[in-house]
Amino acid sequence: MIPELSNPSVCMRDPQRVEEILQSMVKAGSNTVQVIADFDMTLTRFAYKGKRCPTCHNILDNSNLISNECREELKVLLDTYYPIEIDSARSIAEKLPLMVEWWTKAHKILVQQKIRKDLLATAVRDSDAMLREGYQLLFDHLQEHSIPLLIFSAGIGDILEEVIRQAGVFHSNVKVFSNYMDFDESGLLKAFKGELIHIYNKREGALLNTGHFQELRTRPNVLLLGDSLGDLTMADGVQDMENILKIGFLNDKVEERKQSYLDSYDIVLVQDETLEVPNAIMLHLTGNK
Ligand code: TMP
Ligand code: MG
Repeated sequence: MIPELSNPSVCMRDPQRVEEILQSMVKAGSNTVQVIADFDMTLTRFAYKGKRCPTCHNILDNSNLISNECREELKVLLDTYYPIEIDSARSIAEKLPLMVEWWTKAHKILVQQKIRKDLLATAVRDSDAMLREGYQLLFDHLQEHSIPLLIFSAGIGDILEEVIRQAGVFHSNVKVFSNYMDFDESGLLKAFKGELIHIYNKREGALLNTGHFQELRTRPNVLLLGDSLGDLTMADGVQDMENILKIGFLNDKVEERKQSYLDSYDIVLVQDETLEVPNAIMLHLTGNK
């Protein structure tokens, strides 16, 4: 139905089911659709020319806004907790408290650095952060068709907004749920605002934002994009959901994790650094080939 679904990176446990969901969404019309996407390693690239690309947190880790000592501490945390994040031998229940520990420790260290708000844009500009190939089409087309895009991220809201602003795609249809920095009156980081969003509590984050989903109640058809199994709960706040098509990027530890991704995502994109497949689906849903 969509030629891109035959790309070598595409794996599906049940292609027939994907076709049924798509047919049903096309029938309902693109004015009933909303898109919910994770940010780090979903809208941004995992790697470029063999080198890992940064997450929101890593943009700060690699910047000169923090001391070398702090950089070292954050690196130790990353080396400790990232392998746990992607460990297929541990259950989500087992990982959850450890992920809370990672975020809590990292945010505490960042706050000690008194990061300046006015220097965030430069840190982003100087970083190696890259949106996935095809991002312009995705953002622009959704905007043209007035399809809401919710970016739901356990990264840092201020940083991710800057990434999409600098890329020229922070359009009016984009809404962000994330961890936002709280600055004092002289513009220095003093805390993070609100409830912490980490990789495994997106369901709770979604349920705290019922107002947003209430506004979008005429859009019960959801396209979900993620790269972690924690991203699957991002749509838990959607009201009276009719159809959901879940697309998952499997970036790392492919062989160990493939089966669990196939069991939970409708479409799995294996080491695919592009948005070619999500874009083809979006064009299909809006009647543009
Ligand atoms: P996401 O929900 O937008 O993908 O953001 C979560 C990612 O952030 C997750 O893959 C882990 C990563 N992360 C870091 O790279 N450094 C950190 O210090 C923390 C707390 C998270
Ligand atoms: Mg992610």
